[in-house]
Amino acid sequence: MSQKTAIYPGFFDPITNGHLSIVTRGLEIFDKLIIAILNNPHKTPLFSIEERIFMIKAAVKDKPNIEVDTFDGLLVDYAVSKNSNVILRGLRALSDFEYEFQMALMNRKLNRHIQSLFLMTDYKWFYTSSTIIKEAASFGGDITGLVPDIVSQKLKEKFRN
Ligand code: PNS
Repeated sequence: MSQKTAIYPGFFDPITNGHLSIVTRGLEIFDKLIIAILNNPHKTPLFSIEERIFMIKAAVKDKPNIEVDTFDGLLVDYAVSKNSNVILRGLRALSDFEYEFQMALMNRKLNRHIQSLFLMTDYKWFYTSSTIIKEAASFGGDITGLVPDIVSQKLKEKFRN
C-alpha cells in the first residue's frame, strides 16, 4: 500500500500549540506530514528560517512520520515535487474562512489534482495566532499553554533583547 502524505504549509513564525494540534490530528489521517515553511523574502519574520525549523523540530520530536522542510514559489508545485496531492490547513474562527477559501480556489485553479483539506481548530486555539501571541509576548504577557516550551523560551529571549 502506498504511503499517503499531506503538506501542512505556513509561515510558522513561530509554531503554536494550535498548529501542533492540527499536526497531531493530521497524523491520524495521513501516514506522513510535511511541515512546509514558506521562505518569503518579502516578509520580515520575527524568527529566521533556521530558528523556525529548530523550534518546529523540537516541538514535534516525539511525533512519528514528520518532515520539516522549506519551500518557495507555488505551494501546488512544491506538493507535486514531494509526491503529495493534499494540502492540509487548520480553520479557526470565521475570519479565516474567506482567505482560506480564496487560497484553496486559487490552488485548485493552478492544479486540479491537489486537494485542500481543512480541519477545524480545536476550540482551545480558536482565537490564537502566531501574530497575537507575538504581540502579547512582546509586552511581557503570559503566553503559557499557547506555544510549545521551546517557543516560549525563544520568545522571551527575543524580547529581552
Ligand atoms: O501561515 P500562513 O500565512 O497561513 O501561510 C500561508 C501560505 C504559506 C500557506 C500561503 O501564503 C502559500 O501557500 N504561499 C505560497 C505561494 C502560493 O502558492 N500562492 C498561490 C496560492 S494563494
